[in-house]
This record gives sequence, C-alpha cells and structure tokens, in this order.
Amino acid sequence: MSVHDRIEKSTRDFLTEHPGLKYSFFGGKGGVGKTVLAGAAALWYARQGKRTLLASTNPVHSLTGMLGQDVFGKPTLVEGESNFWAYEIDTKDTIEESKREIREKIEWFLKYADIKARAEEFVESATMNPAFEESAMFENMIDLMFEDEYEVYVFDTAPTANARRLLGMSDVYSMWVNKMVQSREEAQSLKELLSYSKKKEKDPLMDYLLTFRDRMQHAKELLTDESLTAFFFVTLPEALPIAVVQRFLTWFEEFGIPVGGVVVNMRIDPADLGENPPEFVRNRIEMQREYMEEIWKRFDNVRAIVPLFQNQVQGTPMLEQTARHLFSA
Ligand SMILES: Nc1ncnc2c1ncn2[C@@H]1O[C@H](COP(=O)(O)OP(=O)(O)O)[C@@H](O)[C@H]1O
Ligand SMILES: [Mg+2]
Repeated sequence: MSVHDRIEKSTRDFLTEHPGLKYSFFGGKGGVGKTVLAGAAALWYARQGKRTLLASTNPVHSLTGMLGQDVFGKPTLVEGESNFWAYEIDTKDTIEESKREIREKIEWFLKYADIKARAEEFVESATMNPAFEESAMFENMIDLMFEDEYEVYVFDTAPTANARRLLGMSDVYSMWVNKMVQSREEAQSLKELLSYSKKKEKDPLMDYLLTFRDRMQHAKELLTDESLTAFFFVTLPEALPIAVVQRFLTWFEEFGIPVGGVVVNMRIDPADLGENPPEFVRNRIEMQREYMEEIWKRFDNVRAIVPLFQNQVQGTPMLEQTARHLFSA
C-alpha cells in the first residue's frame, strides 16, 4: 500500500466539498514550502478558469524569486498565463501609510480634547512595536479581500499568529469600540447641549472607530466562513515542522477558523531511488518514515504528500508539477 492510499480525504476531495472556496492560506514553519504550495494552488485555480490572485504580505521578495518575474508593488499577470495574477505587497509603503493615518487621528484628537502635547510622541508609541507591522499587513490583506476583484485569493505566508490573535480579539475590539462610541456620543451630546448652534459636528475619531469595528466584523465573517475560507498547513516529515503545525491546528480549532488540512512536503519517494542509495539517503528515508507515522497519528486531515524534487521549485512548469501532486486524486 502506498503512502497516498492512507489519505482519507485529498485536497481534491476537499475542494469538491467546498466548490465556492475563495480564500486559501498556507501556513507553517519557515522553509517548509508555503510559497511554493501557495503558488501551485493559485496556478491550479487559474488554470481552472478562475481569475486568481496569489498575494504575499511577506517582506522578503519570495514570489518574485519563485516566478522569475517582478511582481512587486502591484498585481501582475504571470507571464504565459491568462488568469493568474501575483502580487507582492509593498510592506514599507503600507506601514508609512498607516503611520500617516494614525498621526492624523492623533493630531485631530489632541486638538479636539484640547491637550497640549506633541502628536509625535503618541505616534511613536503607537507604531514602534512589531505588532503594528503585523496589523498593517493584516489590514492590507483584508483590503484586498474587500476590493473583491478576483474569484480566488491564495495568500502566501498566512499571517497565522496574527489572524488568530486579531480574530480572537475581534470581539474584544468590538466591545472596546462600542464602549468608546458610547462615551463619544455622550461627550458629543454634552457639547451640543452647551453650544448655541445645534449643528451636529463631524467627528472623525468616531467615524474611524465605527469603520474599524465594521471592517473587523466583516473580516471575521469572511475568515470564519468555512465555505469561503481554508487554512492549509504545510509540514515536512520532521519533528519541528510537525510541532508547529500541531500548535496552529489547536489554536485555529479553538477560534473556529476553518482548517483545510495538512500538506506534507519534501518527502523522499523511495521509488525514485536507484539500486544502491548512499547511506545518508537511506538514513533520511528511515527518519522520514518514522515521522510519517507520527503525522498519521497526530493529524486526521492530511490532504496531500508532495515529493522532494531534484531541484528547487521555480517557474510555472515546476509549479504545475507541484500542483499535480498537491491535487492528485
Ligand atoms: N517539494 C519540493 N522539492 C524541492 N524543493 C522544494 C520543494 N518545496 C519547496 N522547495 C524549495 O524549498 C525552498 C523553500 O520553499 P518556500 O516555498 O520558499 O518555503 P516557505 O515559503 O515555507 O519559507 C525553496 O527554494 C523551494 O523552491
Ligand atoms: Mg515563503
């Protein structure tokens, strides 16, 4: 019996059950093949005739490298394809943009509340932390989703910790924003009561809070809808990547974020070897065999096993080859 026969529900079976799947994510430890598998999935969707965007919020230029084509800064049609667009989001730009927005809000608020302080200090403390960068990336991603210009979105490097945290926190956000809105309303009506003109003042902070809350709620709706969204986790037949996937699965299940399943990458297929493989290869195969057992024991949602290729995966012909394994029946 081949390892593939142990797969209960393949990627293909899963997609048959989820014909309207629109947002796919690939998560896992660094170097396990997230970018490659996201690329293969996107190519496959595009070749099914769906207008597909492969997007990366990864600051490292991974898509450009994999496709051998500059896709940085704007959605770019992949050479030789008619439905496959790739887009490496300019992180620096987003972060500057968010900083500018926050500075405006803070300046407005300080003026409104008649506080004599320099906005700069507040801007610094609001933006000088790694979570800010992560949130900017998340915002970027949901912007793309809300623009809704593609039929299928595949996101390279799932903002895994981020999605979990933000979605887990979105109820807390909502509560917090509602509370803010309530006290803003009270302050507003008090101000109106005291002023002679009954004209309602525009309140940009309130607008911002309301928009933010609605965006978060909408993002949560899309990202927790299992007919639309699936997070796939990539592992190798090795200890550390398995542990990472295990942890993600536990988190995601806890938060009700839909899991598409587990993809095993870079398995050495013993059938590919000649008569007398060198000892280190035999050792590696034995090690992988043990970790495959571990994978079957821990995960009941393995969807595909992709072999280790002779070369790294670059260009659409190699992505096509990868897709054949990812979507093999
Ligand atoms: N099945 C495979 N066989 C051979 N090389 C692979 C395979 N999957 C990925 N690679 C290569 O491994 C490296 C890491 O893959 P990548 O997709 O960039 O990982 P990640 O995005 O998880 O960091 C890349 O050079 C890629 O081409
Ligand atoms: Mg990557």
